[in-house]
Amino acid sequence: MPGFDSIEQLRDAFTRQRYLMDEGLATVVFLAQRLRKPLLVEGEPGVGKTELAKALATAKNAPLIRLQCYEGIDVHHALYDWDYPRQLLQLRAGGSAPLYSEEFLVRRPLLEALAHPGAVLLIDELDRADDEFEAFLLEFLSDFQVTIPEVGVIRAEQPPAVVITSNRTRDLHEALKRRCLYHWIDHPDLRREVAIARARLPGVSERLAHQVCAFVQDLRWLDLYRSPGVGETLDWVEAFHTLGREEIDAATADRTLGTLLKERDDLERIRGDGLEALVDRAGERATELRQEGGAGGAA
Ligand SMILES: Nc1ncnc2c1ncn2[C@@H]1O[C@H](COP(=O)(O)OP(=O)(O)O)[C@@H](O)[C@H]1O
Ligand SMILES: [Mg+2]
Repeated sequence: MPGFDSIEQLRDAFTRQRYLMDEGLATVVFLAQRLRKPLLVEGEPGVGKTELAKALATAKNAPLIRLQCYEGIDVHHALYDWDYPRQLLQLRAGGSAPLYSEEFLVRRPLLEALAHPGAVLLIDELDRADDEFEAFLLEFLSDFQVTIPEVGVIRAEQPPAVVITSNRTRDLHEALKRRCLYHWIDHPDLRREVAIARARLPGVSERLAHQVCAFVQDLRWLDLYRSPGVGETLDWVEAFHTLGREEIDAATADRTLGTLLKERDDLERIRGDGLEALVDRAGERATELRQEGGAGGAA
C-alpha cells in the first residue's frame, strides 16, 4: 500500500484524481496518514468532504469502505449482524453448522474495514448519528478490535485510514475529537473553484467556468438559507454547457437556477432581486480574471 513521501507528493496524487487541495488540507491529510490518526473534517455541505475520502482511497490504491451515518444507526448496521433467513433455513434443514458462527455473520462496514489491511474507512456525516453511536465509535477507533461473543475477538492487522465527516448540524464529542486530527474545509476561493471546475469539466469554455464561479462566489456572501456547494457550481456550469451557452445570460440563468439553489425562498429572493446585476458582475469578474491570467491553471 503506497504511502506518501511528502506533502507535495500527496497533493500531486490528489490532483491526478482531480481533487484540488490547499496547503492546510494537504498537510493534515499527510499527517493523519503518518501519525495513523483518524481525520475529522467538518464543513458546509458540498465543500468536498466525502470526495476527499474517495480521492484518498484512489490515491493510495486502497479499497474505500463507507459507512453512511443516519439517525438511529446502530451496531447492527455499522458492525455486524446475523443472517437470520439463512439461519432459519439451516434450522429447517437440520444442518449441523453452528448458527452463531462466522458462516452466518453479516459483515457491515466497520467489521469489513478490519478485514482489509490498509483500507480507507469513510464514516460519513457522523453528526446525523446519535450520542450512543458516537460513544461506540470512539471505542472502535481506540483499539480497532471487536468482540463478537459467539465468535471471538476480531482485530485489524493494520488499522484502516479513517476519514470522519460532519456537516456540523451538531457538535461532536470532545473525546472523539481528541482522538482525531481536525480540519475545517471552507468553500474554495474564486481561483480554486475555477481550477476545480476546469479540472472536473475540461470540455467547457474558460469564460463560462470563470463566470459561473464568480456568480456563485457572490451568492455565498448573501446569507442564503442554503449556499451552493462546489458540486452545484459544477452542475450549473454543465447546465449552461449542455444548453449550448458558452457564457451566462440572465434568461438562461433564471431558467436553470434550480441547479444551483434548492430552496424556494432562496430562488425567489435571487430571481426577485438582482439576478441581472449578479450576471453582469460575474461577466466583469470573468474579464478581470482573464486579464489577471493563470486562474484557469492549477491552483
Ligand atoms: N477540492 C475539490 N476538488 C475537486 N472537486 C471537488 C472539490 N471539492 C468539492 N468537489 C466537487 O464537489 C462535489 C461535492 O463534494 P462532496 O465531497 O460531495 O461534498 P460534501 O461531502 O462536503 O458535502 C464532489 O463530487 C466534487 O466533484
Ligand atoms: Mg458528503
